[in-house]
Amino acid sequence: MSRRRFLRNSTLSAGTVAATSSSLGAAQVLPAPQVNALAPVFVSTWPFGKPANEAGLAVLTAGGLPLDAIERGIGVTESDPTNGSVGLGGIPNADGVVQLDACIMSGPGHQAGSVAALEGYVHPIAIARRVMETTGHVMLVGDGARKFAQQHGFERGPAVSAKQKAAWKKWRTEQQHKARGEGKPKNHDTIAMILLAPDGNLYGGCSTSGWGYKLAGRVGDSPIIGSGLYVDNQVGAAGATGIGENVMRYCGSFLVVELMRQGLHPQEACLETLRRIAAMDPKGFDLSINFIALDRRGRFGAAGTGQGFEYSVTTREFSRVLQSPGLTSADIGPVGGNRK
Ligand code: GLY
Repeated sequence: MSRRRFLRNSTLSAGTVAATSSSLGAAQVLPAPQVNALAPVFVSTWPFGKPANEAGLAVLTAGGLPLDAIERGIGVTESDPTNGSVGLGGIPNADGVVQLDACIMSGPGHQAGSVAALEGYVHPIAIARRVMETTGHVMLVGDGARKFAQQHGFERGPAVSAKQKAAWKKWRTEQQHKARGEGKPKNHDTIAMILLAPDGNLYGGCSTSGWGYKLAGRVGDSPIIGSGLYVDNQVGAAGATGIGENVMRYCGSFLVVELMRQGLHPQEACLETLRRIAAMDPKGFDLSINFIALDRRGRFGAAGTGQGFEYSVTTREFSRVLQSPGLTSADIGPVGGNRK
C-alpha cells in the first residue's frame, strides 16, 4: 500500500472510530432519571403480555414496587396452564421434563438475576429476583438453581403438565428415527416485559420454557443478560422472543439498547438490530426473532422478522395489543455479511 493511501485510510479509520465512540456515548454522562408524565409504561411480548402488564400496573397502583410489578406481571403468564411456552404448562424438553429460564433486571444499580434449566418451580422470575437480591451472583442453573429455590421455599409444581406429557409421548414416537435436537423448533413464545416506572427508572424481566423438545440442558437467550433482556437506566430497555439461538449469538437486546443510546427511536432500534443480525447471519431474515424496546422518555416500539409479531403496551391511559412491523428477505440490503 502506498504511503499516501495508508495515510488516507488511517485518517478515515480514525474519523470513523472517533465518530463511533462519540455516537456510542462511551464517556457520556446523561442526567439522572426523572419523573416521567407518561409513566408507568409497560411493554411486553405477545397478546398474553396484556394481562401480565395489567397485573403489573395493578401492583403499582396499590403502592407496590416496580420489581414487584414485573414479578407479579410475569407471574400471571407463568402460572397460566394454557400457556404452552412459559411456566410449567410449557412444552417439555426431549426427556419430557420442563426446564425453565428467566431473568430480571433493575435499572438502578444495574442489578441482574437469572435462573436457567430450572425444573419443578412455578415462578422462575421470582427465583431470579431472589438470586439478584440475596446472592453475590447473577445466574444459577440446573440443580443449583433448584436447590436454591428449595432453600428459599418457592412454590413447587409438576415436572410437566398432563397435557404436555401426552403430546411429548406422541412426539417421541414420531422422532424415533430422527436425531435429537434436529429440525425446526416447536413454537415457543417467551414473555419479556420492560417497564418505565413513575420515578423514571427502568426495569425488566423475561421468562420461558424455551424451545419445545430441546435437548436437556439447552439454555436459550431469555436468562442471558444482554440477549433476552437488557436494561440500561440511562438509555432504555429491550427484550426478545423467538428462537433464542438467533438472538444470543448477537447479544440482541444489548444491541437494541446501544442503538437507542445512539439516538434511534425504540422502534427503529429494533428494526436496525434485525437488519444488523440479518446482514451477518447465513439465514438472512429467516430467523424467527422479535424485539420490544422502551426508552427513558417513555417512547416504545417493536419489530420482528417475517410478518412481525404482536406485543402489548399498557399505561394508565390505555392497554393495547399492537402489531409490530416485520422484515423479510426482500428487505435485505446490499451488505451480504456471511450469507452464502
Ligand atoms: N426465546 C426463548 C428461547 O429460545 O428459549
